Amino acid sequence: MSQRILIVEDEDKLRRVLSLHLQGEGYEVDEARTAEEAMPLADRAALVLTDLRLPTLDGLTLMERLRLTTPATPVVVMTAYGSVEVAVEAMKRGAADFLPKPFSLDHLMTVVRKVMEVKTLREENVRLKEELGHRYAFDNIIGRGARMREILGSVERVAPTRTTVLLCGESGVGKDLIARAIHFHSPRARHPFVKINCTAIPENLMESELFGYEKGAFTGAAQAKPGKFEQADTGTVFLDEIGDVPPSIQVKLLRVLQEREFERLGSNKTRSIDVRVIAATNVDLQRAIEEGNFREDLYYRLNVFPMTIPSLRDRREDIPFLAEHFLARFAAQQGRPPLKLSAEAQRKLVQYDWPGNVRELENAIERALVMAAGDTLREDDIRLDHAPRRGSASAGLNGDGFLPEGVTLDQHEQQLIREALRRTGGNKSQAARLLGLSRNALRYRLAQMGLE
Ligand SMILES: Nc1ncnc2c1ncn2[C@@H]1O[C@H](COP(=O)(O)OP(=O)(O)OP(=O)(O)O)[C@@H](O)[C@H]1O
Ligand SMILES: [Mg+2]
Repeated sequence: MSQRILIVEDEDKLRRVLSLHLQGEGYEVDEARTAEEAMPLADRAALVLTDLRLPTLDGLTLMERLRLTTPATPVVVMTAYGSVEVAVEAMKRGAADFLPKPFSLDHLMTVVRKVMEVKTLREENVRLKEELGHRYAFDNIIGRGARMREILGSVERVAPTRTTVLLCGESGVGKDLIARAIHFHSPRARHPFVKINCTAIPENLMESELFGYEKGAFTGAAQAKPGKFEQADTGTVFLDEIGDVPPSIQVKLLRVLQEREFERLGSNKTRSIDVRVIAATNVDLQRAIEEGNFREDLYYRLNVFPMTIPSLRDRREDIPFLAEHFLARFAAQQGRPPLKLSAEAQRKLVQYDWPGNVRELENAIERALVMAAGDTLREDDIRLDHAPRRGSASAGLNGDGFLPEGVTLDQHEQQLIREALRRTGGNKSQAARLLGLSRNALRYRLAQMGLE
């Protein structure tokens, strides 16, 4: 499908030449002699090529109007020889490029192709972002139980606003996923989502990472660089592990949150930005405040719309659905037909405590799938990292919670001790902790077993 270019030029001869040449290069062309003639034709154009000096309304005014009606259509301006200032002005007001007259037809084509290419890239970008948006649509967040449904309801309500959101919850509960869902359900969805992992950045680099720097701000700053906040302008900043931000940076964050203003390192020019802030933490910020590690004023700036995502063991009702979801996803990734979850396997998953929450469940299912033969995932395919919950039926006891058939109490105890040592790779302190014994008590028992 060929693309259409709108030429706005009052000089008949030049307009004809441009038109013929562009048609020769495979474009479709519309011609207009004035801005007024051009306006109704702009709709169907992929690019507008306009002279700046036109009979009634000039090119800059035309450009301004087009920005309102067809903002995605790039405008290339043709300027008279020697009027560089006008060209610069046009670029400032949003022209994609300019051609100083007289220009060669080769130069024309170079500029047209480049501008078209940028436009295609931009459209591709928007499409990709939409796909991502789909990935974070709620139908990909499993939340069947009342507690997660409440969270998703909050996401829906807070997403359209610019309100600062604070996500709390243990590691692996889905804070990242929720942060992205908020962004992709907000009017900022097509703008940047910039995640800042506050743990991963060393303190001495943090200020320049966050706020950028000017050339020469420090040794090695050969070129100016915008920081993460600038990159996120008009979009969303996700401050992950906010509890790990050192006090020196906390002050600076406070200012951005209050004023939406900051300076690059080595510059005294104050910059304003429009960002939405989402922060996440798996540490108790109240406690960090009491211990003097977190500024209370920053906490209140962040804690505008707090959401606490419950741990998985506090919403076991979601476990079977999450398991099915991951099972379907990994099976599809491996090109296998969907597997069923056996009743025993499901019970095992629901009873386990999931210290690593949804992430641990996701990993456990992926691993189990490797073990599973046939079309059903069985109890034995699932390997869990930690001891099962105390009192659960899968602790090696028989169905009614008493000793396994034909095993004495001593034998059973020894089995458990051996298992604890196996799980901790022979580390006695850890094994003792796992068994709820002191190190000495474990030593004593090992001596009795002849294992000390
Ligand atoms: N409700 C859910 N539905 C589907 N997948 C989920 C859900 N919650 C979490 N996950 C998946 O579990 C994994 C861990 O989630 P995520 O990274 O969002 O956790 P987190 O709270 O940010 O963890 P951390 O504190 O370690 O950064 C991800 O792969 C995520 O896609
Ligand atoms: Mg995370």
